[in-house]
Amino acid sequence: MKIAILSKGGANYSTRRLKEVARARGHEVRVINYAKCYVSIEKNHPVVRYKGESLDEFDAVIPRIAQSYTKYGTAIVRQFENQGAYATASSIAIVRSRDKLRAYQILAKAGVGIPKTVFARETANFEDVVELAGGTPLIIKVARGTHGNGVVLAETPKAAKAVMQAFYVEGVNFLVQEFVKESAGEDIRALVVGSRVVASVKRQSLDGDFRSNTHQGGEGSAVKLTEEETKTAIKAAKAMGLPICGVDMMRSSNGPLVLEVNSSASLKTPELVTRRDVATKIIEYVERNAKRRNKKDKVGA
Ligand SMILES: Nc1ncnc2c1ncn2[C@@H]1O[C@H](COP(=O)(O)OP(=O)(O)O)[C@@H](O)[C@H]1O
Ligand SMILES: [Mg+2]
Repeated sequence: MKIAILSKGGANYSTRRLKEVARARGHEVRVINYAKCYVSIEKNHPVVRYKGESLDEFDAVIPRIAQSYTKYGTAIVRQFENQGAYATASSIAIVRSRDKLRAYQILAKAGVGIPKTVFARETANFEDVVELAGGTPLIIKVARGTHGNGVVLAETPKAAKAVMQAFYVEGVNFLVQEFVKESAGEDIRALVVGSRVVASVKRQSLDGDFRSNTHQGGEGSAVKLTEEETKTAIKAAKAMGLPICGVDMMRSSNGPLVLEVNSSASLKTPELVTRRDVATKIIEYVERNAKRRNKKDKVGA
């Protein structure tokens, strides 16, 4: 099979592992820097160009699109989809997952537990907004943040109002969210492949921060999920249309609450701390699903 890993970082752990495993399993695999791709959009003829060459032969693409490249990256993924390639994360699913508000709406509709979340535009009904989110302390987070940047803990109504006003003035969309204090500084990430959780890690902040992102100095360790957590992760992945993803959850006193679903979750910490071979699971999934899709296309043709 011809597989493209769409990644800006060829030396990145996840990209290296996927490439290594795909190659060992006999596939032709290339790492393509999607940021350097350009496309020509013509009637019935989707072209992707890369360093002066046309790319049009991939059976499957594995998108690993950086948050800051969401728009450009997903346009490139869409072009590969238009060529008939199977994508482990579809362009539409990536776009949905990158917008926290949109993602929470999808998850809530599918019956997945999420923290109480409020979206508002003005401070006119400030008291009501705070009450809906369960009162202070509460979390205010920008709709398109990542790595814990843009997530604020407001301890008092005064602080909450000031933060919201600052965001309004800057024109930044944000969410007001219940602070899940039982889980402060700790969350779990379940890596889902297909309809199974293949590895799960607990991330804990090391410096007393309420944010557990490893980019913020959090540390990861292997964790065993409860049945409810496993079910929640799988349901969240399904709702988001992301068969391969990392589902972040907090352990609240009311069970697991999903924080976000990542379309290009890193394999590094999960593989290193659980010693599970996640990359092989992903490539096996690609083999099963890209083939099926190609067969379907041929039948339909
Ligand atoms: N409602 C919340 N209650 C308690 N902690 C939270 C809440 N929301 C986020 N956090 C903490 O902040 C971290 C970052 O939040 P998250 O929504 O995942 O944003 P990002 O996309 O920036 O990672 C989470 O991993 C979690 O540790
Ligand atoms: Mg996060």
